[in-house]
Amino acid sequence: MADQYQRRRITVGDLRSQRWFAPDDLRSFGHRSRLRQMGYSAEEAEGRPVIAILNAWNDLNQCHTHFPQRVQEVKRGVWQAGGFPVEIPVLSLSEMFMKPTAMLYRNLLALETEEVLRCHPVDGAVLMGGCDKTVPGLLMGAISADLPAIFLPAGPMLAGRHRTERLGSGTDVWKYWAERQAGCLDACVWRQLEDGIARSAGTCMTMGTASTMAAITETLGMTLPGAASIPAVHSAHSRMAAACGRRIVEMVWEDLRPSRILSAAAFDNAIVADMALAGSTNAIVHLLALARRAGVALPLDRFDEISRTTPVIANLRPAGEFLMEDFHDAGGVPALLSRLRSLLSLDCLTVSGNTLGEQIAAAQVIDDRVILPNDRPLSRAGGTFVLRGSLAPDGCVIKPTAAEPRLLKHTGRAIVFDSYPDMKSRIDEPAEGITADDILVLRNAGPQGAPGMPEWGMLPIPKHLLEQGVRDMVRISDARMSGTSYGTCVLHVAPEAAVGGPLAVVQTGDRIALDVEARRIDLLVDSAEIARRLAGWTPPAARFSRGYGKLFLDETTQADQGCDFRFLERGSSTPEPDIF
Ligand code: FES
Repeated sequence: MADQYQRRRITVGDLRSQRWFAPDDLRSFGHRSRLRQMGYSAEEAEGRPVIAILNAWNDLNQCHTHFPQRVQEVKRGVWQAGGFPVEIPVLSLSEMFMKPTAMLYRNLLALETEEVLRCHPVDGAVLMGGCDKTVPGLLMGAISADLPAIFLPAGPMLAGRHRTERLGSGTDVWKYWAERQAGCLDACVWRQLEDGIARSAGTCMTMGTASTMAAITETLGMTLPGAASIPAVHSAHSRMAAACGRRIVEMVWEDLRPSRILSAAAFDNAIVADMALAGSTNAIVHLLALARRAGVALPLDRFDEISRTTPVIANLRPAGEFLMEDFHDAGGVPALLSRLRSLLSLDCLTVSGNTLGEQIAAAQVIDDRVILPNDRPLSRAGGTFVLRGSLAPDGCVIKPTAAEPRLLKHTGRAIVFDSYPDMKSRIDEPAEGITADDILVLRNAGPQGAPGMPEWGMLPIPKHLLEQGVRDMVRISDARMSGTSYGTCVLHVAPEAAVGGPLAVVQTGDRIALDVEARRIDLLVDSAEIARRLAGWTPPAARFSRGYGKLFLDETTQADQGCDFRFLERGSSTPEPDIF
């Protein structure tokens, strides 16, 4: 057990929910009588920890279709441990169906999570999410509410299948779409791929954003051991759901809150896992936001520092070969971390009440092909590098393992697109004269510009170049990229174009130098000329003048700060509600 962790016990009188149910007054009479209205006796519902099951489910979230059953299994665990479970549906962020991007709504889920926990008679929470932005959204809100909380990841879907080939979410879609664009794939095979690539409930089963965030959440200490990789339709996932229900009740009695778990060392551990997995670049934005919620100072450059000393040992697509089922069978996150012991702070506390070191003490790698030995990594440095230079004074990121090595040091002519529609209309135009050595630049696709920083960063290769066999080019944007994507894509350029970063004044024909080894990205234009152009620059018109979009534009921070709302970052604590 963690030295610093005393399993203190609170008593029934200390339960937060007792403020609603215990007093002998008119208001509490109302609360108790309404429990009776719902069919609960005093024995069932009072004097027990009330556990909110925050279920990020709806009929349009394709990755969470098993959640209605999992909720029942979480409830089973809560009842078994003497708690009182209540399901509270929250905003579900479907990566596939929400437009312009689910990222626009991550902060809304975080805000909702914090407030539903605060305003209800709740002592602890099980957070049910998985599809990309649901994980950081739920965690950010739970950190700010700071009630005992445990995360139940949705788990990956089964591996895709086409004839004898195994298909990976996203990664194989991009690959086969390029073949289709190049005229190498007929409509019949394309439809067969459509039928076979997503075969069950669960999240994308490559090391995309969902898998990365689940692994990070486990490494941070916010899940039970092994939870991140259990396939969604595996019976072990049901057992994990019930175990979360049992454990959260104990966490309430132990008063084990996120603030006791999420230290600076825990965030460093999470970055080590991210780098060893060659995880999604999106994880950087989310970890920055989570750290700021937790009051942990985490500069962007910390990712690069840890990246330099962390080998990529997860052989998972898109950087490697295997899929999440294989990773689970190879031992999952505990096995991965067991190979990284020397890089981790093992005394960090987890939701189990044990330290991370205790949690991985017995872990073993079952399959060396999937979790590679440290002396045979995919890459000696970690999965994501941070670059700076005259084009990105506040930083940007690249995933070198997903790039063609010959492009990691490259100077080329910029071809500039002012927006995604502009890019769509011009990218395949022969008159543009785009060559394989050019650098494609997309701007006004960042947090403010798009807005919401969509996953537009893997710009398509022009059709005529695809037909010539070109499969990668240097691409630069202030957008994000799907964790399942690949290519030499420089992402998250900060400051973004829409707030007047240098990206705003790049012109077609300018030369740009990328040097990943030196961590540099430079616009090869005289600094006085850049300043002259910036002085004459005017910002694009705001896309929203009302509603949530307006709030987003007014309050969201830049990519290097996590894109959270300024007023939701850690400040003085929010008062508990008055109960009159
Ligand atoms: Fe839900 Fe990929 S679409 S995790």
